[in-house]
Amino acid sequence: MSLLQDKVAIVTGASRGIGRAIAEAFVREGATVVICGRKQETLDQVALEIGKRVKPVACHVGKADHVRGLVDSITREFGRIDILVNNAATNVAQGPAIAMDEGQFDKMVEVNLKSTFRFINLVAPGMCERGSGSIINIASISGLRPQFHGLLYSMTKAALIMMTQSYALELGPKGVRVNAIAPGLIQTVLSEYYWKNEKLKDDIVSKQPIQHLGQPAEVAELAVLLAGDGGSYMTGQTIVVDGGATLVGRL
Ligand SMILES: NC(=O)c1ccc[n+]([C@@H]2O[C@H](COP(=O)([O-])OP(=O)(O)OC[C@H]3O[C@@H](n4cnc5c(N)ncnc54)[C@H](OP(=O)(O)O)[C@@H]3O)[C@@H](O)[C@H]2O)c1
Repeated sequence: MSLLQDKVAIVTGASRGIGRAIAEAFVREGATVVICGRKQETLDQVALEIGKRVKPVACHVGKADHVRGLVDSITREFGRIDILVNNAATNVAQGPAIAMDEGQFDKMVEVNLKSTFRFINLVAPGMCERGSGSIINIASISGLRPQFHGLLYSMTKAALIMMTQSYALELGPKGVRVNAIAPGLIQTVLSEYYWKNEKLKDDIVSKQPIQHLGQPAEVAELAVLLAGDGGSYMTGQTIVVDGGATLVGRL
């Protein structure tokens, strides 16, 4: 039996990487999936590759009017949104904390954090009315402990974890579960600095209890569990998927 049969899901940042893998896994499990990213042509291509039941819609998650436009049009077309995955993020501002400027601070907050606040506040009321829904926020192990030279990234991911808990507390009695996933190093464009250099990659991976480089699909399978009935008694949780990296102190 398919685990997400006939569910309607939005996955942000699904033009590649972890978001794309989540979209693929949701489609495999019978859901209709709205994928978003900034470029319509890229999304159209991804939709062709994934197959049926994928709706590609360009949306810059840092822009309030884009987010509202997406949620309104999907609600009109499908009548409901059952699953929301807040996955899109950026890491444009790496470097010494005291060198960060306010423009970088605002951009990181807008794209990595405020986007999730906006999406949840638009989507959750419908979920509450229907008495069911699952929201999944993609955080990071860098939200659990600070990443060196990653002040703004770590800060937004830590806030996302608390946002997850706060929404879970309020929305649980209305039938809506809110959980977060905190991946470790996963092989995507965002993290290529860490794995494109063979020596650095081998050094990182050899110290992990699970000694391979994490793949987007390994995060996606957890998202399937949280989105469907398998996660029916879980809310407010942040689940680490890092090959055991945090056990050995690495972030
Ligand atoms: N990879 C890792 O090691 C790792 C570890 C921990 C956590 N994470 C988290 O996992 C999530 C996915 O990251 P990833 O590694 O898969 O990154 P990725 O390969 O760089 O993909 C990021 C996705 O987000 C989209 N995106 C970026 N800015 C956007 C915006 N303003 N509006 C809409 N879409 C936007 C990108 O599409 P366009 O560029 O086409 O807009 C792309 O689809 C992020 O939340 C990240 O922080 C990743």
